[in-house]
Amino acid sequence: MRKPIVAGNWKMNKTRAEATALLAGIKAEVAGLSAVEIVACVPFTDLDVAGQALKGTNIALGAQNIHWAEKGAFTGEISAAMLKELGVTYVIIGHSERRQYFGETDESVNKRTKAALAAGLQPIVCVGETLAEREAGQTTQVVERQVRAGLAGLTGADWDKLVIAYEPVWAIGTGKTATTAQAQEVHACIRRLLGELAGAEAAAQIRIQYGGSMKPDNAKELISQPDIDGGLIGGASLEAKSFADIVRGALR
Ligand code: PGA
Repeated sequence: MRKPIVAGNWKMNKTRAEATALLAGIKAEVAGLSAVEIVACVPFTDLDVAGQALKGTNIALGAQNIHWAEKGAFTGEISAAMLKELGVTYVIIGHSERRQYFGETDESVNKRTKAALAAGLQPIVCVGETLAEREAGQTTQVVERQVRAGLAGLTGADWDKLVIAYEPVWAIGTGKTATTAQAQEVHACIRRLLGELAGAEAAAQIRIQYGGSMKPDNAKELISQPDIDGGLIGGASLEAKSFADIVRGALR
């Protein structure tokens, strides 16, 4: 069955010195825990020091974005090869903050996802509706569009590497969590859609994380839902104890 995956999305937090301290705390908290896949998605400037700190541990290194071109005139962007050299194995793509503030579209998400896969990186592709879209009854429609367009053209073994994060935008950093029923409903809908796109066998293997104000006190219940396979954690990943408590909450 699917191994739960809990990833910290540090966003634009933690200098190198702060990252070193936080990772030391997380490593101590989760040492020896192998039933959950654990990922730390740190800012680009922390990747080097984090890669060294995490070598040989049970915590994988993740980035928060990737460009689709191999190299060239793309000021401010980072390529797959640059990430791989630092030991990165996961990369968050299409986070709602990137869609909202940096013009990320389903099309750019698709290009980044394909580039990550082509380089052997595991993409964590984020989808989710805004509050206005939910209130207008468009949740399913929006998420379906994001999944279809964001994953267009994926084939065969690509699906095995893919992780999806369902993050209702209205729940991110707001303290409002989707109820377990609301989250499970969308997760099930995404898995049905994946069945259509990737085939039933692949769809049954793809991990779908929930994200949006996941905390130690709600993680266990959310992750116990049949189609929720872990979490993408923002605020609560910035402190070793709360992140580790969520990881422990994902044990099945
Ligand atoms: P949050 O962020 O846990 O702080 O709500 C989650 C995310 O944006 O990935």
